[in-house]
Amino acid sequence: MERKKIHPSAPKLLQECLALAASPLAGAPLCGIADDGMIQKIKTESQVTDLGGKIAVVTGASRGLGQRVAWRLSQLGADVALLARSEAALQHLQQKMAAHGARTLAVPVDVGDPQSVHRAKGVIERDLGIPSILVNAAGVFGPIDLVKDSDPAAWIETMRINTIGPYLTCRAFVGGMMDRGWGRIVNVSSAAALHEPGPINSAYGTSKAALNQFTRHLASELKGTGVTANAIHPGDVKTDMWEYIKGASQRLGSAAEAYSKWADWVQETGGDDPEKAANLIADLMSENAAGVNGRFLWIQDGLQSPIPSWGESEDLPPWRE
Ligand SMILES: NC(=O)c1ccc[n+]([C@@H]2O[C@H](COP(=O)([O-])OP(=O)(O)OC[C@H]3O[C@@H](n4cnc5c(N)ncnc54)[C@H](OP(=O)(O)O)[C@@H]3O)[C@@H](O)[C@H]2O)c1
Repeated sequence: MERKKIHPSAPKLLQECLALAASPLAGAPLCGIADDGMIQKIKTESQVTDLGGKIAVVTGASRGLGQRVAWRLSQLGADVALLARSEAALQHLQQKMAAHGARTLAVPVDVGDPQSVHRAKGVIERDLGIPSILVNAAGVFGPIDLVKDSDPAAWIETMRINTIGPYLTCRAFVGGMMDRGWGRIVNVSSAAALHEPGPINSAYGTSKAALNQFTRHLASELKGTGVTANAIHPGDVKTDMWEYIKGASQRLGSAAEAYSKWADWVQETGGDDPEKAANLIADLMSENAAGVNGRFLWIQDGLQSPIPSWGESEDLPPWRE
C-alpha cells in the first residue's frame, strides 16, 4: 500500500489512481484519506478478500442492490443475515443462496423501528453470531413533490427509513465490532446528497445528506478501533427504485423534468451494473481498506462522474473518476 501526504503530492497520486481506475485489469484501485490525514492508494488487482468466519448484516436484501451485495459477501465466505420487510422475498432468496452452499438467515425487520431492530439483533446474534460487517442498503425514494404539497407522513417516513434506520442498525451492531477490534460499516447513500439541490425530492436528498453526516460522526468515534464506517454512491441502477422514480416523474410532467431525464438516461444506458457497487463494497472489506474511514466513495467506471464531497482539498480532482 502506498501512502502520501495530501499536499503537495496528492494530485500526482490521485492521477495514478485514476490511471489505474481506467485499467482493464480486474479489480479496482481504491483511494482514500486515512484517519491521520494521509491519502493512500490501495491496489486491489490481485486481492481476494476471504470473509470466512465473518458475519455480515445486509439491509435491503430482499431485492435490488442489497440483494446483490448479500450474494457477493456470501461468495467471499461470510455468513449473511438478510434483512428487509418482505419475509417471503427474504425466504426465497435464502433458499436460492442455500442451494449455492451459503449460510444465511432471513430476518424480517423494519429498519426504522427501534423495537424491530432490537429483535433482529437478538435473532442474528443467537442464530449466526456477532456481526462484523454491516451494509445499510435499505432505502426508499419517498415523496416526489414540492415541499408545500408534500404529505408529512411520507416525508417523515423517508427520514425514518433512510436515516433513522442506519442509525439504529449501526447502534445495534457497532459495539460488537469495536469489542472485537474489526468491523466494516457501509452506508448506501446517494449522489443526490451531493448534487446541487433541486425541487421535488427534498425528503430523499435530506435523508441521504443526514446519512452522510451521521456516517462521519460515527467514523470519528471509530478512529483507531479497527472498525470503519463509510458512505457510498452505488451507481445509477435500474432497480425498483428507478421504476418508482420513472413512474412518478411521468405522472408529474414538467415539474419533474429532471427526474424524467434521469430515468430516461438510465434506461438508454442500461444503468450501472449493480456488480460495481458489490465490487466497491468488497474492496472496502479488505485489510488494505482499514484506513479508509468516514469517506464518501464512488463505484469504479460509473456512468456518473464522481463529484467532490468532503475532506478534499479544493484544488484536487474528485476522489475517483
Ligand atoms: N438505484 C439507484 O440508482 C440508486 C442510486 C443511489 C442510491 N441508491 C440507494 O441504494 C439503496 C438500494 O436501493 P435500490 O435501488 O436497490 O432500491 P430497491 O430495489 O427499491 O430496494 C430497496 C430495499 O430496501 C428495503 N426496505 C425499504 N424500506 C425498508 C424498511 N423500512 N425496513 C427494511 N427494509 C426496507 C426493501 O425491502 P422491503 O420492501 O422488502 O422492505 C428493498 O430490499 C437505497 O438506499 C437507495 O437510496 C440507489
